[in-house]
Amino acid sequence: MTKLVIKKPDDWHLHLRDGELLKAVLPESERHFNRALVMPNLVPPITTVAQAIKYKDQILNLLPKGSDFKPLMTLYLTEDTSISEIKLGVETGVITAIKLYPAGATTNSSSGVNNFEKIKPVLEYMTNVGLPLCIHGEVTDSNVDIFDREAVFIEKILMPLRNDIPGLKTVIEHITTKTAVDYVRSENSDLAATITTHHLVINRNDILVGGIKPHYYCLPIAKREHHRLALLEAATSGETSFFLGTDSAPHVNTAKESACGCAGCFTATNSIPILAHIFEEQAALNKLEAFISINGATFYNLEPNKSFLTLSKGTPPISPNTISTIEGDITIFDPGYELNWQVL
Ligand code: DOR
Ligand code: ZN
Repeated sequence: MTKLVIKKPDDWHLHLRDGELLKAVLPESERHFNRALVMPNLVPPITTVAQAIKYKDQILNLLPKGSDFKPLMTLYLTEDTSISEIKLGVETGVITAIKLYPAGATTNSSSGVNNFEKIKPVLEYMTNVGLPLCIHGEVTDSNVDIFDREAVFIEKILMPLRNDIPGLKTVIEHITTKTAVDYVRSENSDLAATITTHHLVINRNDILVGGIKPHYYCLPIAKREHHRLALLEAATSGETSFFLGTDSAPHVNTAKESACGCAGCFTATNSIPILAHIFEEQAALNKLEAFISINGATFYNLEPNKSFLTLSKGTPPISPNTISTIEGDITIFDPGYELNWQVL
């Protein structure tokens, strides 16, 4: 196959930031994606519908004329989020999902949740109205090894939570383990998982062997190779409960290449060519559209996009490996090999 025409993809987990970074990174997502679920971990976090509307307007105002890119907004769940705020988000149609960060799990998550009991009334309301909860699925207990944090979260937090609140539409985001793949498969269609581009490419050796590679450091951190292979198998299976959420998370190089480097891989620019490359290697090009353009929309009760994206086989033209912003350069994720596909 040398040409592939698929429905335009959606990114079900994206960090667009704000201000100058937003200006610089938005075109990278707008080019290939039709919709993106925009993460609310700004400073300060997007905890109210009013803030979400303002943030959405900021994004829409930066889009080129004629663009049909649609930012789908999320609210950052805190222990103080009220049912009335969520209700407002649903009734105004502004909010597509609620984002749950365990406090301290990742970038700008300090206002997240420590006590899961406190959010149960809100989760019950969300269940009643069918509003999805997107979860950063890692425990933050300092006694739990960073490589075990996802598996422990599933067992100790997510399973009990889903038992207590049956029917809550839940996305366990950016999964990194076979444990998560198996758990999603064992559950009903209320539970789905996003998988990032980078977790399909790298394992923990890629971060740590031969010197620390800060641009491969993200959270949840990439795990052992057998976990990457389980993610690859899930993504290329075509199963409806797995779909793309790039978690493209820009940080300027000085923040990444530092004694205490920030977590995040910036993959907005080349996710689609990388995924085409990977899916072809797995002899699963016929499942690419399900993973990047169909399954997510179905989970969110939306129609797949009407427009199309064309990919063609052939080494993409040499492109810069960074994008420039007033705040500094951002390094584009390097899959470590030459890509076979380009987006026309
Ligand atoms: O690596 C990550 N970066 N993981 C997250 O969960 C947050 C993100 C960010 O905002 O930088
Ligand atoms: Zn994220």
